Amino acid sequence: MRKIYIFDTTLRDGEQSPGVNLNTQEKVEIALQLERLAVDRIEAGFPAASPGDLAAVNAVARAVKNSTIIGLSRSREQDIDAAWEALKDAEDPCLHLFLASSPIHRKYKLRMEKHQVLETAEAAIKYASRYFSKIEFSPEDAGRTELDFLCEVTEMAIRAGATVVNIPDTVGYLTPSEFGNIFKTLKQQVPGIEKIQLSAHCHDDLGMATANALAAVLNGADQIEGTINGIGERAGNTALEEVAMALETRQDFFQAKTGLVLSEIARTSRLVSKLTGMVVPGNKAIVGANAFAHESGIHQDGMLKEKTTYEIISPETIGLKESKLVLGKHSGRHAFREKLVDLGYELNEEGVNAAFAKFKDLADKKKEVTDEDIRALLEEKIVSTPEMFALETIQVSYGNQSVPTATVRIRTLDGQTLDEVAIGNGSVDAIYKAIDKVTKEEVELDDYSIKSVSHGKDALGEVHVVLKQNGLSMKGRGISTDILEASAKAYIHAVNRLIDKRSNQTANRNNVSLI
Ligand code: KIV
Ligand code: ZN
Repeated sequence: MRKIYIFDTTLRDGEQSPGVNLNTQEKVEIALQLERLAVDRIEAGFPAASPGDLAAVNAVARAVKNSTIIGLSRSREQDIDAAWEALKDAEDPCLHLFLASSPIHRKYKLRMEKHQVLETAEAAIKYASRYFSKIEFSPEDAGRTELDFLCEVTEMAIRAGATVVNIPDTVGYLTPSEFGNIFKTLKQQVPGIEKIQLSAHCHDDLGMATANALAAVLNGADQIEGTINGIGERAGNTALEEVAMALETRQDFFQAKTGLVLSEIARTSRLVSKLTGMVVPGNKAIVGANAFAHESGIHQDGMLKEKTTYEIISPETIGLKESKLVLGKHSGRHAFREKLVDLGYELNEEGVNAAFAKFKDLADKKKEVTDEDIRALLEEKIVSTPEMFALETIQVSYGNQSVPTATVRIRTLDGQTLDEVAIGNGSVDAIYKAIDKVTKEEVELDDYSIKSVSHGKDALGEVHVVLKQNGLSMKGRGISTDILEASAKAYIHAVNRLIDKRSNQTANRNNVSLI
């Protein structure tokens, strides 16, 4: 069975999703989970974008031991120097160099002739070889590049010392047969192609990213690039969980396999969704909440008789276990600890105690505490943004004939408690105005969404908000059995993250263009 290498760019291309801003701790947390998933290569960021990005890539490079760590770089010496600075501590560092090759990019963006593209890229690969023994080269917008020129670029990259040549369909324009044909042609026509690995990097603008990646596999690609949950610029990138499960489920057809630990897929998806604030749609393939739900009577009947009638993947394969142990307010520490083990959490004594206290609190408000509730509680604060502000109490007065009024009590990092009251055109608006009075941050609420974590009237509510301030947008998340409290927590979480981002002086990263 041919091995397909998995290159995860959740922390780089994924982080280019509008409104996603991961801090260093969050990047490390995701990278460690990607390592547990056994991703071969992790693109941790774009070190030349800002000192904050460089520091984050360096933190990932130090933390991860079993995956190759990659930094993105334009074909410029300063970028390559910054990438080496960030990656030199990695067990297995790799540079990802790129330069656009398509006629549109050459004419309008680079203002370069073909020979200048070849010379610039060659010089950059040679310069990078001083530091790196592994170099991936990407002709950006390869999908819209003349095929004969793409062959020339690939040949140049191999001669100059690249170890991987990546073919990006940067704007998600190609169809599977066109994309597959590029790989077939490169394999047939480029001298020395057997010395390097060929990689596929697809975007999902026309909804064909996974199909295109799989077409590349069928035509000789050694590596697939993508992100968890398919997040990324515009419509996103290839969803890696889809590629992995397609190869696993249809081994008979593809004759190829990834080395991923498939049972870590669900947990990785949840972590990425939580830390990026990008909610996974219910009908998303593999990791959507409904991916294994059977609603119609005919399907349910079939499932009861024989699961394979309507199920081509078992939920256990991606790490979704069916729970036998239901917890409630009478459950003790022992049962709770068993549940944690069952869900795959390894907590020390202190961690178990803190989690048990939260569980008891919730069990007082909720009859049955589900696995989803426990995950939500445990994952609420895996990564802590410094809490400049923390919600202590909240009180709301609402009547459909009166003006909604909210009072909040908020604790600051230096231990003060501040009370404020405000009116609004709804309860959430009043709460947010009261919080603004305390924080004195001028922010704009750009998005607000609410969903329930589990089922039933007493389910935990999860609120996501996006706040904007001076061109920087930041997501926040809050959970509670009460949606107004969840709303307040999400808002304060986003404010804390905005302040943290500002103080790390990385707010300028989005201004650095990929040219
Ligand atoms: O989509 C793209 O072209 C990229 C490159 C930087 C490889 O992300
Ligand atoms: Zn991309």
